Formats: sequence, C-alpha cells, structure tokens
Amino acid sequence: MTEQPVWTETDSRDFLDLAEIAVPARAEQTRALLDLIPAAPEEAFTVADLCAGEGLLCEAILSRFPRSHVVALDGSELMRTNAASRLAHFGDRARVLAFNLDADDWIDGLPSPVRCVLSSMALHHLEAERKRRLFRELAEKLEGGGALLVADIIATSSQSVRRSFATQWDELARDQSLAVVGSLNGYERATKEGWRPTWLVDKKDGEMPYPVFEQLKWLEEAGFALVDCFWLRAGHSIYGGYR
Ligand SMILES: C[S@@+](CC[C@H](N)C(=O)[O-])C[C@H]1O[C@@H](n2cnc3c(N)ncnc32)[C@H](O)[C@@H]1O
Repeated sequence: MTEQPVWTETDSRDFLDLAEIAVPARAEQTRALLDLIPAAPEEAFTVADLCAGEGLLCEAILSRFPRSHVVALDGSELMRTNAASRLAHFGDRARVLAFNLDADDWIDGLPSPVRCVLSSMALHHLEAERKRRLFRELAEKLEGGGALLVADIIATSSQSVRRSFATQWDELARDQSLAVVGSLNGYERATKEGWRPTWLVDKKDGEMPYPVFEQLKWLEEAGFALVDCFWLRAGHSIYGGYR
C-alpha cells in the first residue's frame, strides 16, 4: 500500500519561509494564472483555490477582479490563519475554510456556480486514479466556459529533460535566494530541507508528479474541451482545461 503523505505544520512554516526561493518564478506564475482565468475584469464570479496556503493567489485574484469572490481551502491551521489575515480586508468576498484534499466530502460543498478552480503546488499529493476522479468531478462542477487551472510540479520520462529541469531549478533558486535573502543561504536551506526537485532525479515518497501530456489526456477524458500546458519551467508547470 502506498503510504499517504502527511503535510505537517512544520512543512507549512518551511514553505512560508522558502517559497519565494524554491518555487520557480512565482510572481510570473501568478500573473499567468490571472491571465488564464476566464472572466472579464469587471465580471462577478466565484473561484475556489484548493490548498490555497497563505492566500497569495487569492489576494491577487480579488485585486485583479474587483467583483470576484474566492473560497480558499486548506488543511493547515497556520496557512488558514495567514490567509484569513491577508484576505480580511476583502470582507465577504473571501472565505477561508478547512478541508482535506484526500477526503471525498468537500467537492459537494464547493460554491455553485463556480467559474474557476485553481490549485498551486498541491495536487501532486494525489495518486493517478484519485486525480483522474477529481478532474471528472470538477469538470461536472464548473460552469460552462469555466476552467480548472493547476500550477504544480510535473514528471518527465526522459533523463536528459530531467537533467535540464534540475539545472534550470538550481539556477533559478540560486538567483531567487540572492534576490530574497542576499546570499545563497536560502538556496542551501531549500536544498537541504528537500524543496529541491529531487523528483527530477529520484521519486520522493508522497510526491506523485505525472507528465503533463498524461494529465492533459486525463483532463480531456474528464470532459474538458480545451486542454493545454500554459507555462513550464524547471520541473513546474501550469496546465489545465476549459469547459
Ligand atoms: C506547497 S504549499 C502551496 C500553498 C499555495 N497553494 C501556494 O502555492 O503558495 C501546499 C499547501 O497544501 C496544503 N495541503 C497539503 N496537503 C493537504 C491536504 N491533504 N489537505 C488539505 N490541504 C493540504 C498545505 O497546507 C499547504 O498550504
């Protein structure tokens, strides 16, 4: 039996410290996600962010789309506390709720209608069958024209591509460390604490990245009409589909 990964509050603390260093081009990814949301700037609509963390993406959505509402779901109390405080000034346009991604009970509770479901750096905790089922359930749940947008680590079957991704990650994480903390200490800590994409070399317990191409097929099977990889760098990708 595959051991289920357990995200701990220590992981949340480490991620809060290291994300700006360990996640490739985070601001660029956020801008790409915002551009991909299928809504006009002044439209009223609702999005759900699965494993929303400290609420940075939700904050960016609420700012870009002034009539939007977001539901930020996360299993970590520390993350929810951070998200709730970050999003408080948006009033009832933002809700921060506890959920367990591994359970089956939360999909029915998603807002309806929901225009867009997003998730960043989290769905790789789901194994293939569970993820395919999630894609099907979300395709049913989304409004016509709505989108599922996933930013996450991805796998590749080719050793040379893996090496290229690993080199890209090293270069970016070093640059980001210099920019964020003024030295390579952040990069070294990220590497030591396992945020380096070891999945590019060896599969790590609890992390189940799949190739983008395979996941695009799952999205198509699930009923998404337009599926694509929208961004890819250093073993991280933004991919998804529109209804
Ligand atoms: C790497 S962080 C990403 C946070 C945020 N999406 C971002 O990109 O900044 C992963 C998030 O997933 C949440 N998480 C991990 N496993 C979870 C689970 N089984 N149920 C609910 N939340 C989970 C963690 O609490 C954490 O906030």
